[in-house]
Amino acid sequence: MTAANTTETNPSVELAGASLDVPETYPEIEVRVELETRSYDIIVRRHIIRNLGAEIVNNLGLPDGQGRTAAVLINPKVDHYYGQDIYNSLKDAGFTPLPIVLVAGECYKTLQTARRIYRTLYEKSVDRRTLIIAVGGGVIGDVAGFVAATYQRGLDFIQVPTTLLAQVDSSVGGKVGVNFEHGKNLIGAFYQPKLVLIDPSTLNSLPHRERRSGLAEIIKYGAIYDEGFYKNVDNDVIGLLRLTSTYLESAIARSCQIKAEVVAQDERENGLRAILNFGHSVGHALESLTGYHVYRHGEAIAVGMVSAALIGEELGITPPSVTSTLVDTLTKARFPIGLDERLYINDIVSLLSLDKKAIAGNVRFVLLNALGHATPGHEVPEEIVRAALQRQRGF
Ligand code: NAD
Ligand code: GLY
Repeated sequence: MTAANTTETNPSVELAGASLDVPETYPEIEVRVELETRSYDIIVRRHIIRNLGAEIVNNLGLPDGQGRTAAVLINPKVDHYYGQDIYNSLKDAGFTPLPIVLVAGECYKTLQTARRIYRTLYEKSVDRRTLIIAVGGGVIGDVAGFVAATYQRGLDFIQVPTTLLAQVDSSVGGKVGVNFEHGKNLIGAFYQPKLVLIDPSTLNSLPHRERRSGLAEIIKYGAIYDEGFYKNVDNDVIGLLRLTSTYLESAIARSCQIKAEVVAQDERENGLRAILNFGHSVGHALESLTGYHVYRHGEAIAVGMVSAALIGEELGITPPSVTSTLVDTLTKARFPIGLDERLYINDIVSLLSLDKKAIAGNVRFVLLNALGHATPGHEVPEEIVRAALQRQRGF
């Protein structure tokens, strides 16, 4: 993470119906994802989307947009709030914006949606210089990235995440894809973006549950990788949830930096990268069992992190004090962390063995050895999983 640069911007401030140009400075934090020829920058700065076109030109080292098509994949609500600023700034920088507005929702993270995007790109006869720009949450980012990876064997791809979850997790690291039948993210690729531009001010329009969903991933990074960061997050967890915390930008940037460090060591998840899946085994099972309608992704991960901590305790790997610290933080942030009585442990256990992370039916868990330190690849006997889930009923 480079030291905070300060960038001059001229934000428009709404005042009693009028719009005033007020010079103001916004701190900027940059994180580099080091992946040899696939390296890229993540820039965190409030209101960066108003200068999106110029930022892209500067960061990709282009003289200007050169008339390149910039296909912007976006949901209707996000288009309503931010679309016009984005298209104007792309035009100003010399790009030709092509908005592609897609219905929101996990159930649209499909090959059918990808096909719809391919069709639009085909009908517009776009060439290989076309940029794919994902503006939105993880669903848009994952589908847009999949299209970018596959259309004409690969187009340049830029992530502009607008949910907290996408800002701290899904926009970084290059996992792109779609769901297939009952398998989440079953079809996909590793395809890194050229640039990630994060505008924390877009979080102001995000519903509370979506913010909390992203917060679960921030808590996860502290728990698996950095005890000091965990404590900073824990100290201001309510401020982070309400977006009033002065630590917000730093928490986003530190989360991205942790992910960048892990991905730089193990881009294709042959080992270390699996620690990023802490809480995801049970979390994914809960999302799947409830048809993706009940839990937001981060809410399911919060429950799953507690399951993993309890499993670690049962095995003597996770100290009980670590579980209670995690439970305290998640409870302060008002996450429901108990295992709902309506979910059968048998169903969860059967789904776990179908998880992509299982090998020959054996479920592998990421477990905490200490606060700030996780290890992947623990094969856990089924009776231990059942015992831990049974304990979680009481939470
Ligand atoms: P999402 O993409 O479904 O977005 C949630 C909702 O928020 C949508 O309705 C969206 O239109 C709306 N929205 C987005 N930005 C907004 C804003 N600024 N203001 C108001 N509304 C806004 O959900 P998500 O939680 O961002 O992403 C979940 C997806 O991310 C899942 O499909 C998950 O598998 C994926 N994911 C991918 C990775 C990865 O590494 N690729 C990592 C984690 C999660
Ligand atoms: N979200 C886990 C990963 O990107 O590896």
